[in-house]
Amino acid sequence: MSRGGRIISIEGVDAVGKSTQSLHLQTWFKSKGVKVTSLSFPDYETPIGREIKAFLAGKRTFQAEVRHMLFAANRWEKLAAIRESQIENEVVIVNRYTESNLVYGVANGLRLEWLAALEQGLPKSDLVIVLDAPSMALTSRRPGPKDSYEKDHEMQFRVQSLYRELAPKFGWIIVDGSRSVRGVHDSIIKVVKGSLDARLRARL
Ligand code: TMP
Repeated sequence: MSRGGRIISIEGVDAVGKSTQSLHLQTWFKSKGVKVTSLSFPDYETPIGREIKAFLAGKRTFQAEVRHMLFAANRWEKLAAIRESQIENEVVIVNRYTESNLVYGVANGLRLEWLAALEQGLPKSDLVIVLDAPSMALTSRRPGPKDSYEKDHEMQFRVQSLYRELAPKFGWIIVDGSRSVRGVHDSIIKVVKGSLDARLRARL
């Protein structure tokens, strides 16, 4: 494959289990001898990531356009790292990617086309898996302080339904995330096996 590793994005509302499932998926690929790595967005360690952290913590106020431009810019900041990961690996798992900005941006009243244009030219996801679960059940899942997006329950509902609404349009695959960690992992593996190119699939 000339352009290198395939990008698998793990998406969904806050606290649906993306980090856990990304980790399990990475471990599974490794156990099959596939070269794999993980990235995660927002990357809070970059200069723009620190701005994102500040507004999510309520320490800075930006209008929606600026917030979502910053989320997109945070990926542009990491372009070299994304490309390098693709060159070095057969699979790159990304815990939230461009799709998050489409969904959360629209949930904040922005236009889908405007949001998509911000990321034109970045490597695209080859497979998008959306973990879906009733958001009310999720708020109790993750204890501890919540950021400004997590605290907004109405927005979490809008985000949940937008993932469902946009999935068929963009070919995102919805997986029921309300089951056990093992059950969700098994479903993810099925989807992944069904979507990889034949050469990689033959090794799994
Ligand atoms: P996190 O909780 O996964 O670290 O993400 C923080 C919040 O940022 C979460 O509510 C989703 C939102 N977000 C966007 O709106 N656009 C993006 O591009 C990303 C990566 C996250």
